[in-house]
Amino acid sequence: MLSLSAFSLRRLFGLSLPLAFMAVACALPAAAATGKNGKPVAAKPATLGAIPVGDPVGDPVAGKLKIDSERCQECHGSDGNANGVTEGVGAEGRFPRLAGQHVAYIFKQIRDFRSGARNHATMSMMAKGVGDADLADIAAYFSAQKRIRAERIANTDVGRNLFLNGDLTRNILPCLGCHGEDGKGGSANGVTYPAIAGQHRRYLQKQLVEWRVRERTNSVGGVMNTITQSLTDAEIDALSDYVAGLGD
Ligand code: HEC
Ligand code: HEC
Repeated sequence: MLSLSAFSLRRLFGLSLPLAFMAVACALPAAAATGKNGKPVAAKPATLGAIPVGDPVGDPVAGKLKIDSERCQECHGSDGNANGVTEGVGAEGRFPRLAGQHVAYIFKQIRDFRSGARNHATMSMMAKGVGDADLADIAAYFSAQKRIRAERIANTDVGRNLFLNGDLTRNILPCLGCHGEDGKGGSANGVTYPAIAGQHRRYLQKQLVEWRVRERTNSVGGVMNTITQSLTDAEIDALSDYVAGLGD
């Protein structure tokens, strides 16, 4: 469980913004680690919830062909923006944009869909059907695409305020601390935070609700579950609008 105070928050986000998330120091007390010989092992600087980088580097040109043969484009769009396929009604209609998403994040989600750490029947099937070598090319391709929003979203003060300042009395950490002020996340110092800016608002809303009710629990240390725990429906809507409207 995260225990937050003004002090720990300064340690977390007191670095130069907007890239504080690149060097976020963990507010959790480090578990006393001991080596084989029983001596304490120097703890690496931890990063709350961050995803380790280190996946195979793929070829985006090969990836462009593979999104067709592996069928990813049917739902995520040929440019990874899922424009046109996501605006429909129905239980789905919430296909996420993969354009501009970080490779390490894409890999982690596919592994989580395969293992069941993240639940989604269709994606679990797709993830089991694609091998890591092909996925490396596909991720390289999607990651290199520009995120293009089909819709313009009207932002509200509620969403902006929560994104920039959070609400520490309710364990809501400011989103910018990890996803960056521009919402584009980032990969640096061996870790990644996902890009959320310009994502489809219905998809964002669905994820935030699923984090809150713990239907999605795959963030390291449950960090996104903690952060969303006390968000109201109206606040989730406002945040989804704000984040969907961020970006170029
Ligand atoms: C039949 C539709 C469909 C196909 C085909 C499909 N996806 Fe998905 N994908 C989805 C849906 C729907 C989600 C969102 C799941 C959720 O709501 O949690 C998703 C989520 C994802 C995510 C997580 C995105 C995020 O922001 O967390 C990744 C990565 C992904 N898909 C990659 C792929 C790849 C790679 C392929 C091809 C091998 C593929 N998908 C094929 C429907 C599809
Ligand atoms: C302490 C770091 C941290 C903070 C603060 C944070 N997030 Fe996250 N967020 C993450 C990480 C890490 C993930 C990826 C989890 C995973 O491994 O699947 C994530 C995932 C997400 C996702 C899912 C993205 C996708 O494509 O499916 C959304 C949406 C999101 N965060 C929104 C927010 C919002 C809104 C806030 C502020 C209220 C916020 N986050 C604050 C670390 C953070």
